[in-house]
Amino acid sequence: HKIYHYDRVESTNRTARELASRGVPAGTLVVAEEQTGGRGRMGRGWFSPHGLGIWCSVILRPAVNPMDAPPLTMLAAVAVARALRRVTGVEAGIKWPNDLLVGEKKICGILTELSAEMERVNYLITGMGINVNIDRHQFPPELRETATSVLAETGRRVSRVALLQDLLAELEYWYTLWEREGFAPVLARWKEMSVTLHRPVKVFTWKESWEGWAEDVAPDGSLLLRLPGGERKKVVSGEVSL
Ligand code: BTN
Repeated sequence: HKIYHYDRVESTNRTARELASRGVPAGTLVVAEEQTGGRGRMGRGWFSPHGLGIWCSVILRPAVNPMDAPPLTMLAAVAVARALRRVTGVEAGIKWPNDLLVGEKKICGILTELSAEMERVNYLITGMGINVNIDRHQFPPELRETATSVLAETGRRVSRVALLQDLLAELEYWYTLWEREGFAPVLARWKEMSVTLHRPVKVFTWKESWEGWAEDVAPDGSLLLRLPGGERKKVVSGEVSL
């Protein structure tokens, strides 16, 4: 697969979209040393300082309906968590749908963007931001309580190349398994690493929020909540606070 490496871009997701719409093949990777306008979920930004993290996006072209795309983001979370554990020793938990946390702090965020035509995914961009060699004090003050990095957790700098190589191998493994056997094996791994299940949570969407018990994740990746009145709620997308 081809890798596009940049010193500085606005957002690797944006660059990947441009490349994807020009027809580059599935499996293409865009990676940058620095992002000047890194994007996060829910309209937020993503702190992406030069040379200190893995800011990358993979272009995928899965032959699925757009409704079946969320599991692919959860697949990426599993891949990052395993690569982080093997290469750095950091044990991150997955917060639904795809944040990687150490304790309560985020070490990796994943943002998927998708283009679809006629009920078919045209391309899917999975953007991953991994905080690697960022010193605790280098985070802006407003992120210090909510963000962490490999360096902050272990006191050691690690090779971003080694981590990215392992991540790409993991992504390939889980993606191939998903193509062959569907989402169940991926979801089983996701559940093992989840820090969201079997506990009380608060879930926000753009317009609503619920408090309830996180019972399970459905085969399509939705979060299954039990509300205080006993009613069950299936949340397709949103943000969890623990
Ligand atoms: C989140 O809000 O948790 C998702 C953050 C995703 C950040 C990554 S960094 C590489 C890619 N390019 C972007 O602009 N965002 C994603």
